[in-house]
Amino acid sequence: MDKFVIKGPCKVKGQVNISGSKNASLPILAATTLFDQTVQIKNLPNVKDIDTMLELIQSLGFIVKRDKKNCSVKIVRSKKINTITSYSRVKTMRAGILLLGPLISKFNNAICSLPGGCLIGPVRPVNLHLEALSKLGMNYSIKKGYIHANVKKNLKGNKIKFSKISVGATENTIMAACFAKGKTILKNCAIEPEIKDLINFLRKAGAKIRWTGNRSLEVYGVRSLKGVNYSVMGDRIECGTFCVAASLTGGTLKIKGLDHKIIKTELDILKKVGSKIKTNKKQILITGPKKIKNIKNLVTKEWPGFSTDLQAQFMVLLCKANGRSVISENIFQNRFMHVNELRRLGATISVKNNRAIIEGNTSFDGAELMSSDLRASVALVLAAMISRGTSVISRIFHLDRGYEKLEKKLRKIGVNIRRIF
Ligand code: UD1
Repeated sequence: MDKFVIKGPCKVKGQVNISGSKNASLPILAATTLFDQTVQIKNLPNVKDIDTMLELIQSLGFIVKRDKKNCSVKIVRSKKINTITSYSRVKTMRAGILLLGPLISKFNNAICSLPGGCLIGPVRPVNLHLEALSKLGMNYSIKKGYIHANVKKNLKGNKIKFSKISVGATENTIMAACFAKGKTILKNCAIEPEIKDLINFLRKAGAKIRWTGNRSLEVYGVRSLKGVNYSVMGDRIECGTFCVAASLTGGTLKIKGLDHKIIKTELDILKKVGSKIKTNKKQILITGPKKIKNIKNLVTKEWPGFSTDLQAQFMVLLCKANGRSVISENIFQNRFMHVNELRRLGATISVKNNRAIIEGNTSFDGAELMSSDLRASVALVLAAMISRGTSVISRIFHLDRGYEKLEKKLRKIGVNIRRIF
């Protein structure tokens, strides 16, 4: 299994080009199964989760023509389509569930494995997906780890209010509603930028979707979608991770490939800790402070709140702050798995329920570390970058799920990192 060897401490300097967003690409790829005509998706990140989603789509009978060098893929429908997503492919990636909505909408039946993915909750439920799709007319039963779903004739539009805000359930329901007869009204939707990207893609192909207010959407069913070319938005989590790298090491980075307004919340927090940030349409220029200021109450929330996918990275930053900080994790129940590993480097962090209390002014010494999930893994990389001496991070397959060419990008900005096998 691959490992990272990182020698610290280091200070980053230079330019980083942000890759396409993994979390926007996944639902957009799932939505390509709604099309009869060829679809081309560009700015696709070359990461493991995208490989897995494309394998899944291929296993359904679609022809997948990927051009990794140009970060693009063409998806062509073949004559023979099956609608079964197998556990062997879905077990490593929760987003496999995103095929349920489009498959049931387009083909009227689907057998989808219950998802796997990061271990950041005691269970990773899909009740909100199933409840919403059932309201559109889907019948289902769960047998041996698979959702067996069908609809008698076609899905029918309905009024759905999500009992909890969920990114995936919102995406699945929007995709399903594209071909549902009549009008679907969705309330209490997630409004993450990746959802807006999915809607832009579907609209470009002829779907009738409109925002009707705060967290409310209307979808009017259409008969078909027309083949399009679409370029996926940049990855805001990758961008946020590099912004933390600059802030943490007191370095300077020019970051290109993401509209800075999308990560305004996180940039405002980094300004509070003392980073100097200049933005324009093309780039974010960020310089980390000499002394990092602590934050008394950082809370993860649905967008436009502070992203749970950046919580672990910000925790590393706050270990270096000039006082005690508190982070509350409000989205996932078990998302502090990086804490034990950070303690191995020298961090003093206590966890009570969903709150982590982080003592500042700690200095880290390199150690052997183990990745536990995608975002925790990158936090360990950041922590190793500010540790004295060598750190070895194992199980980095978690990281490969979502970060494109991470070690190459880090080496380019001055980090002493290499991959060993
Ligand atoms: C997506 C992102 C993930 C991010 C998360 C929250 C992708 C591929 N992944 O995950 O990186 O951390 O949004 O911003 O885009 N829940 C239920 N029942 C459900 C579904 C979710 O109770 O049916 C709960 C979850 O356990 C969690 C919360 O709702 O506590 C939010 O989850 P959700 O927004 O659905 O996350 P994902 O779409 O899985």
